[in-house]
Amino acid sequence: MMRVLSVASECAPFVKTGGLADVVGALPRALTAERVEMRTLLPGYPAVIAALGSDAAQIAELDDLFGGTARLIAGHAAGLDLIAIDAPHLYARTSGLYSDAHGHDWPDNPERFAALSWAAAHIATLGAGGWHPQVLHGHDWQAGFMVEYLHRMGNEDTRSVLTIHNIAFHGIAGAERLHALRLDPSRFHSAGYEYWGNISALKAGLIGADALTTVSSRYAEELMTPEFGLGLDGVMRSRREDLTGILNGIDSEVWNPATDPAITPYSTARGKAANKAALRAEFGLPEASGPLCIIVSRMTHQKGLDLVLEALPALLDHGGQLALLGSGERGLEHAFTSLAEHQPNVGVRIGYDEALSHRMMAGGDAILVPSRFEPCGLTQLYGLRYGTLPLVALTGGLADTVINASPAALARGVATGLQFAPVTAEALRNALTTLCRLHADPSVWAKMQRNAMAQPVGWDQSARAYAQLYERLIAGP
Ligand code: ADP
Ligand code: GLC
Repeated sequence: MMRVLSVASECAPFVKTGGLADVVGALPRALTAERVEMRTLLPGYPAVIAALGSDAAQIAELDDLFGGTARLIAGHAAGLDLIAIDAPHLYARTSGLYSDAHGHDWPDNPERFAALSWAAAHIATLGAGGWHPQVLHGHDWQAGFMVEYLHRMGNEDTRSVLTIHNIAFHGIAGAERLHALRLDPSRFHSAGYEYWGNISALKAGLIGADALTTVSSRYAEELMTPEFGLGLDGVMRSRREDLTGILNGIDSEVWNPATDPAITPYSTARGKAANKAALRAEFGLPEASGPLCIIVSRMTHQKGLDLVLEALPALLDHGGQLALLGSGERGLEHAFTSLAEHQPNVGVRIGYDEALSHRMMAGGDAILVPSRFEPCGLTQLYGLRYGTLPLVALTGGLADTVINASPAALARGVATGLQFAPVTAEALRNALTTLCRLHADPSVWAKMQRNAMAQPVGWDQSARAYAQLYERLIAGP
């Protein structure tokens, strides 16, 4: 068995703000079949400590982990082998993982996640309860310093992988924190972790890790362009040889319409009718002839929901409906809430609700994902599995996972959804019109649903790709 420590700031089902948590929670199980023993290192947020319960064993003690003592505790929860950093001075906080109750980032976030990287390097170097990982697999900027700290601890043996889930977050800290963050000042320059005069945790990882991955092939290409690289495209181009795209899968037990306890289960799309009726009732929507579209999303600029506000008449004018579940930017929340107040065919729930998201996947006809950029995206994959056809922007993982209903794809009988480009309200409007036209032809729609539900969206292939990557790294150059 290969020994790999996954290093992440969130993990489903314990703590989640987005798809990163789903991936971190699902990957270890998917990797068991590939001869990988993966343990997961997490900050000891209250929810993580609670999940470990009283059976957790202390495996190490750190005298000074960025301002206080810390214990590493290990145990099992939800089928995962976890190591948590029990450091109350850093993680024993209510409200958000990254921000306070007002949505402001915790001022000590650089130290909170430097501590995550530090603990990872510590485990790699000294072992944890006799277990020595051969590879550190970090996720996003929160794991960015792990290689800096491996060097600092004199560890040249442990290999490292950094996965980019979203390059928009750089993990920036002011240069005055250099010593507080235990960084080597001689690497504070443009070929190191320095970024426009500041410290960037993400850049440290992008430069230092032995291998880089991101969560779709298309996004791997996009990252090397100024439009999507968001200031780090040059760094990405310099690491072209070491960068691969490995597509996310979904947890096919949690997201299985045939066994999902949150819905009226079904194994063919015909079984969606009862769920659709229930969803309409739940959102107070009347009967209608057009498609019932759903959105389950963080409400941020990335997700392009402002375009939906503009393009929506194209759906409503054709008898379509919209049910949205999301939370995020206040302006978007208000815009959708007031739309729903005036428009009987629009229903909106502001908040975060896992069970409702399942009911929506089961009851919707189509799911809209009009993202400006999308490294992978998971909700379109849930949509495919539930026969809820994805209408997506042609970008990142959305481009890689949906087969657009072009005349050619329809003629060949392979289409699974719709894609639109460029990512503008006008293109979305056209796509919504096409969606309504396709929906009005029951045999075409049913064929697309069958295709969608048959498309593989699990982890098998991608787990193999990660395992092969670890294998190459362990084997050495
Ligand atoms: P991102 O990570 O960029 O937010 P993904 O599509 O990869 O996008 O993952 C989003 C995850 O969060 C999915 O599991 C989705 O179902 C879930 N999600 C997003 N918003 C909500 C919400 N308001 N309620 C329930 N689940 C949500
Ligand atoms: C990020 C991306 C999303 C991806 C998820 C998991 O949050 O925005 O596209 O699916 O990470 O990799």
